[in-house]
Amino acid sequence: MTDAPALPWRTAWIVGASSGLGAALAKLLDGRVDTVAISARSADSLNAMQEASQTLLAYPLDITDADAVARCYQDIEDKAGKIDLVVLSAGTWEMVVPPDIDPAVFKRSMDVNFMGVVNVLAQAVPDMMRRRAGQIAIISSVAGYRGLPKAAAYGSTKAALINLAESLHPELAAKGVTLSIVNPGFVDTPMTAVNDFPMPFLMPVDDAAQRLLRGLERKAYEITFPRRFTWAMKLMRLLPNAVYFWIVRTFMLRE
Ligand SMILES: NC(=O)c1ccc[n+]([C@@H]2O[C@H](COP(=O)([O-])OP(=O)(O)OC[C@H]3O[C@@H](n4cnc5c(N)ncnc54)[C@H](OP(=O)(O)O)[C@@H]3O)[C@@H](O)[C@H]2O)c1
Repeated sequence: MTDAPALPWRTAWIVGASSGLGAALAKLLDGRVDTVAISARSADSLNAMQEASQTLLAYPLDITDADAVARCYQDIEDKAGKIDLVVLSAGTWEMVVPPDIDPAVFKRSMDVNFMGVVNVLAQAVPDMMRRRAGQIAIISSVAGYRGLPKAAAYGSTKAALINLAESLHPELAAKGVTLSIVNPGFVDTPMTAVNDFPMPFLMPVDDAAQRLLRGLERKAYEITFPRRFTWAMKLMRLLPNAVYFWIVRTFMLRE
């Protein structure tokens, strides 16, 4: 057993748990809550994690399939009891470089990053509001703060998640449900391993998962890391468009 103290949840569900941030968080929770349900499409990776763990249970799932999400939510609750923490870490990143605007890329990004989250919220929100308890964390990105080069598809899904969370938070809070939005900077995961551009303050995934867990324990609304980078990105939101576009042209589009 782990020596780390128990955490304030009994049943956690992490979607997007087969790699990266979701997998690192699952390992941090393992042995510190009664059950950690882990979902993603790669059943083999989930099963291997389950084998090597004390409390992880694999629930393979494609988050874009609303019916499968509903069945999965019910299966977890039937087996492990009421879910009191949901972490939505499933995501996909595809570059968009003009003039190539491929609708299929935008649709895939929206289906996974945005509608996937909505599919889970459709199950968790009514259930948790009825119980007046529960916690949900949506992993968005600083790429949702302002438009960034190459991120027209990815960034718009993340901006939509930030707006969605802001819209739902007050009514959920009034019914005792905690909703957090997580906006990481660059984290060293399979998602960023493909990038061919500089990634300032790239963070090791285990450090990022620790920061995420601390934010969840505090029930913070917005959880960001590494702060030096994410606060600089946040400040960009205050800049007039002309200044922002000058910065993008000068520092991000230089060949
Ligand atoms: N890494 C960064 O720098 C960074 C920065 C800001 C935000 N984020 C966000 O953090 C989250 C985690 O990303 P990561 O960096 O840890 O990347 P990652 O290692 O690629 O993890 C993405 C996870 O999403 C799962 N997934 C993808 N499509 C899915 C689907 N249709 N249904 C269910 N699960 C699906 C993947 O598993 P399967 O392929 O097995 O389905 C995987 O477990 C994402 O939302 C990402 O946008 C990452």
